[in-house]
Amino acid sequence: MTIETANAAADSGLLSTLTWVWLITALPTAFCLWFINAPYGRHNTGNWGPQVRARLGWFLMESPSVVIPLGVFIYVRGWESTAITVFFLLWQAHYIHRAWVYPFRLARTSSPMPLALACFGGIFNTINCCLHGAWVIAFRDSIDLDWTAPHFLCGIILFIIGMGVNIDACTRLIGLKKEKLDGYSAPQGGLFRWVSCPNYLGEIIEWFGWALLTWSLPGLTFAIWTLANLGPRARAHHRWYREQFPDYPAKRKALLPGLF
Ligand SMILES: NC(=O)c1ccc[n+]([C@@H]2O[C@H](COP(=O)([O-])OP(=O)(O)OC[C@H]3O[C@@H](n4cnc5c(N)ncnc54)[C@H](OP(=O)(O)O)[C@@H]3O)[C@@H](O)[C@H]2O)c1
Repeated sequence: MTIETANAAADSGLLSTLTWVWLITALPTAFCLWFINAPYGRHNTGNWGPQVRARLGWFLMESPSVVIPLGVFIYVRGWESTAITVFFLLWQAHYIHRAWVYPFRLARTSSPMPLALACFGGIFNTINCCLHGAWVIAFRDSIDLDWTAPHFLCGIILFIIGMGVNIDACTRLIGLKKEKLDGYSAPQGGLFRWVSCPNYLGEIIEWFGWALLTWSLPGLTFAIWTLANLGPRARAHHRWYREQFPDYPAKRKALLPGLF
């Protein structure tokens, strides 16, 4: 074994340990979020310190997820690998929208966000991108793409469907907010016929698709974190709708049609 190979093995061992630690951290987080709603949007109590406009909050929070992967892509000369280029383009398709398009599509009347939460979200995204980036750096020579592998095919289909569902639902919600500037309405149409939070359902499908298509521990970790964040939040939104709108459709579930 050469010194370089030994170093690479040690690095990937450390990366795997750190990623497992981060994955396990998602579990107590989900438990806490079951009882305490993340304080933004309709659940913003105003008690979490200085507030920033939603647009600025989303821009600050999500921009590391565009910039860090771009830096890693350039560092590893990702364009020389088809696999790394495909992963990079899919990731950036999601995050350029989330960080640099979505915030400016939001209604100006969207609820403000605590600055602390925007910072916390930015730190979360930085950790997530560092784990993915370290994975790409550690395995750049062995990351490969088999277009016919079932996990890749299922993953890319789920990723694209999830992104479509997420953007469709976000567009409907943004439209509602722009229609009723001073408040909320019960959403209708699309997957809202079956669930209160198809935007979260789409996002969760998307990142489980990512985990499959990259077949990576950081990918799986991010999918589990997304579920840990958005599962409890979907439940909270759903309860809130039921309290606010007495004629809210009884059969509609929070996140999973017919189930939850
Ligand atoms: N990967 C992750 O871990 C993660 C974590 C969080 C969010 N996200 C993604 O980020 C996006 C935004 O999340 P979010 O939690 O802000 O979603 P959200 O609570 O559904 O709000 C989205 C926007 O629509 C408005 N809105 C929502 N429901 C409305 C209604 N019934 N009537 C009128 N306006 C309504 C909100 O206004 P207000 O702000 O005034 O409520 C906000 O501007 C989603 O696509 C989500 O999937 C991902």
